[in-house]
Order: sequence, then structure tokens, then C-alpha cells
Amino acid sequence: MSSYRIAIIPGDGVGDEVAAEAVKILRVSADKHGFKIATEVFDWGCDYYLRNGIMMPENALTVLRQFDAIFLGCIGDAGKVPDHISLTMLLSIRKGFDQYINLRPIKLYPGVETPLKTATPETVDMVVVRENTEGEYSTAGGIFKQGTPDALAVQTAIFTQKGCERAIRYAFELARKRKKFGDKAPVGMVTNCTKSNALNYSMVFWDSVYQQVAKEYQDIRTDMALVDALTMWFVKNPEYFDVIVASNLFGDIITDLGAMLQGGMGFAAGGNINPEKVYPSMFEPIHGSAPKYAGKAIVNPIASIESIRLMLDHLGEERAAAEIQKAVVKTLSLGKARTPDMGGTHKTHEVGDAIAKEILNVGID
Ligand code: IPM
Ligand code: MG
Repeated sequence: MSSYRIAIIPGDGVGDEVAAEAVKILRVSADKHGFKIATEVFDWGCDYYLRNGIMMPENALTVLRQFDAIFLGCIGDAGKVPDHISLTMLLSIRKGFDQYINLRPIKLYPGVETPLKTATPETVDMVVVRENTEGEYSTAGGIFKQGTPDALAVQTAIFTQKGCERAIRYAFELARKRKKFGDKAPVGMVTNCTKSNALNYSMVFWDSVYQQVAKEYQDIRTDMALVDALTMWFVKNPEYFDVIVASNLFGDIITDLGAMLQGGMGFAAGGNINPEKVYPSMFEPIHGSAPKYAGKAIVNPIASIESIRLMLDHLGEERAAAEIQKAVVKTLSLGKARTPDMGGTHKTHEVGDAIAKEILNVGID
């Protein structure tokens, strides 16, 4: 029997509430599919910072290294710790564990409303592959002569051959696996999200790596969109897209727009993935910690539940993952369990319970 050790970091704000639903779904899936889950909860985050002056212990990565995967609720509570300090915790796990892929599926499920009239379950089905360890998030730079009239700040984006290549290759492999266009070539498409018309070094370099990698994938259609135009196309023609590969910052920005295509931040899941499994990967809803909603049990747990689906897929429990998706789809199309963001009055845990119940039913009806 397979057995997995999962680290749970609920984090701040609504983190406890969504983590509880994530763990609930993990356990139901494990029981149903005959694998074992051992969880350990870590109370790291802003309250930990207020007590200890750091967001997580010095040896956090050594501790987490022992796990097969990590679930992270959400980090940040600007009323307690400035965001640029609290969020280093998230970024240092991504980098420290070489989680160089940030996988963000964007799919609109039946029964979910979105503010965009072009978005329907038929038109919204794409995945953003966001480079997750370098680029604009490279933390190279400094603030100089601060407090003087000559003050200046430098923040250097670093794009390496290795870093670009592995993210772009992952995107092509994913398109090959998804087969959005069917069995006959081209089976899928990878859109290169770029800005090489203005960023004449970094993005021209990124484009050249994209071209090199694309040569190895004759069965995948190539495509290119400048990031500003891409935001327009996302809204105008979401059905056009299959896999989009983007740098760290561009991927960050376009996936918030993507979240709106899929019904809101409450649906947007993400995986910070180290594909080689040298280090544990970390799965998280991409929404923030929404401290003002904490303790009210009103937030949508689906982004967290979907993150567990990505986790199980990554761990090789594909059937369990597929059943989570079926259960989510069923629950949403029945429309019986809906948190306020979906126009309902149900509590976070009631939506979690409904999905857990459907997981037990999948395959029976
Ligand atoms: C995300 C978030 C983070 C990011 C923040 C909180 C640092 O926006 O995961 O999309 O920019 O990566
Ligand atoms: Mg973001």
C-alpha cells in the first residue's frame, strides 16, 4: 500500500478553514483508493512571526524535505507583517525546493458563473505553465541612497538557458499529454507569453529558447502572444488557448485574469512543482489569505480541494485525482452546496462535505 507524508501549512487568514477541507478530501480519497496519508501541521506564518521574528524556523526546508508533498493554505496578513516580508516564506520554499513549474489549470466548471460572458465550460479549458524560480522574481537588486534625493532601486530579472528551457519543455510535454486538439497532429498548442517587442534582452532570449525547444515538438502547434495582447485574447477568445508558458511575473499576472475566467479566485488552484521529485512539491490555492473573512467559514474551498487533486496527480494517484474532479463537477452542477461567492449561503465546510460525499459516490451512479 502506498503511503504519503503530507506537510500541511495552513498559514494566515482563512488558511485554517481551507486547509481543513483540503485534508478532508485527502483522507476521503486515501480511504477510497487504498493509500495511506500521514499529515503533520505546521503553524508557520504571520502569528509565528509575531512570536519568533521569522515566518518559519531556520531549518524549515530541512523539516519539509522529509515529506512527499506540501499543502499550503495561504500566507500574508498585512495588518501583522508587511507582505514583502511574509511572502518571502512562500518564495523561499518555491526556490529552495526548485519547484520550477507553477502549474495553474484554468477550467470553468458547469454551474459556475463568471463575470465574463465569453467564458463558458465549453470555452475555458487551458493551463498556464508559469516559470517559478527565476525571471522577474530573482531577488537580484538593491535600494541605494535611500532617503536622499538621489535614491534609486534596481531589480534585475534573471533568465537562464536552463530555467527557460525546462519550463518551456514542460509546457510542450503537457500539451502533448492533454491532446486538446485530438489525436492527429497538431495535438495541442503552446502559446509563448512574451514581451520581446519591448524587453530586448530577457524576452528576446526567452523567445529564442522557446524556438529551440519547439523544434523538438513537431506535433505541437507553436504560438506567440505579447503579454498585454494576451490579456485581451484571454477575455475575447478563451477557447483559443491550450497551454500557455510564461515567465514568473507574467504568469502571476495572467493567472489572476485566468481565475476570473474560471469563476473567481475561489476556484483557482496551483501546484509548485519539482517535476523530478528530488524535492517535495507544494500545492496551494492561488487566492490570498483574506484576513477579513477569517473565522467566518464563508470562503470557497474549491481552489484548495483542486490543489489536492493536483497533488494526488503529481504523487501518481491519478485515479483518485480524477475522481476529485468528477466530484467537484457533480457538486457544482447540482448547485446544492454553494458558498456566498457562488451566490449561495453554505459554509466552507458544507461545500467540502458535499464534495467528500460525491467522491464516495463516484463510480456508483
Ligand atoms: C501567487 C501570488 C504570489 C506570487 C505572491 C503572494 C508573492 O500572487 O502565487 O500568484 O506573486 O507568486
Ligand atoms: Mg498571484
